[in-house]
Amino acid sequence: MPLEVAGAWVEFGGGLFAGPRKAALRGVDLRLPGGEGGHILAVVGESGSGKTTLTRLLLGLLAPTRGRVLWQGRDLATLDGAARTAYRRDVQAVFQDPFGAFNPVYRIDRMLTLPALRFGLARDAAEARALAEAALETVGLRPSETLGRFPHQLSGGQRQRAMVARAVMLRPRVLVADEPVSMVDASLRATILESLWRLRHDKGMSLVYVTHDLATAYQIADSIVVMRGGEIVEAGDAETTIRAPRHPYTRDLLAALPPADPTIGWRLDDDTAHPSAKEETA
Ligand SMILES: Nc1ncnc2c1ncn2[C@@H]1O[C@H](COP(=O)(O)OP(=O)(O)OP(=O)(O)O)[C@@H](O)[C@H]1O
Ligand SMILES: [Mg+2]
Repeated sequence: MPLEVAGAWVEFGGGLFAGPRKAALRGVDLRLPGGEGGHILAVVGESGSGKTTLTRLLLGLLAPTRGRVLWQGRDLATLDGAARTAYRRDVQAVFQDPFGAFNPVYRIDRMLTLPALRFGLARDAAEARALAEAALETVGLRPSETLGRFPHQLSGGQRQRAMVARAVMLRPRVLVADEPVSMVDASLRATILESLWRLRHDKGMSLVYVTHDLATAYQIADSIVVMRGGEIVEAGDAETTIRAPRHPYTRDLLAALPPADPTIGWRLDDDTAHPSAKEETA
């Protein structure tokens, strides 16, 4: 399937001023599985474990020191012309620090309407604006209060949501989202994660969901990888990873979850818990 990392190492430093070489990723293998249907892969791990480095590889923003990143079987490094444009459209990003990802001199409307026009999703400015408004509403932002603002005039959580809106508006085949809801209130977080989950189930979008939070990973993911020190120490379907973790580190992460967390014990695709699952079977 589309996105794959094979034997990837990433090393930083080693120059005259950059200090000793340090490996941020140590031989990582990752496959986003599935054919037509989408798949949600959660990447979980403590700070510094290499999660963001992995997403930068998947987005082609960083080349591995060793190993390869493949999009539809082709090495990202060799994509050119039309293939590169298709990859740029089909794989969208939500960055961990959405402030850094925004052009500070563009208002939010421009940030949303430009790519809608560039990728041919809208034929004119009015259509692009309508798409942008609909996208903002799905993440709980009021277009009238958002579109005319500059990034620095939004809160961190609003910026994150604008980033999610922009990414999903482009209807990517894969969304790579690095801590996409870390600055958003808990109630809204559930809403946004649910809308991402719906995009997977209704539209077949795949998602790489990077998070510190094993609880939300379990809620929406089909499979989970656990990272530590630049390595994947555990990988498997979400149910098995949570119910029968093999690696002691995963057990530690589970033990660290608040025991009364009401989100543990149900999943979005649990028939008994999720309204849309009932609709599908009705
Ligand atoms: N550009 C860089 N130059 C040097 N070292 C880097 C660079 N980017 C990341 N690192 C180092 O690589 C390691 C992994 O960083 P990474 O940002 O991938 O971690 P993370 O899992 O995303 O952490 P967090 O949960 O805090 O976001 C860290 O030790 C970090 O200091
Ligand atoms: Mg990170």
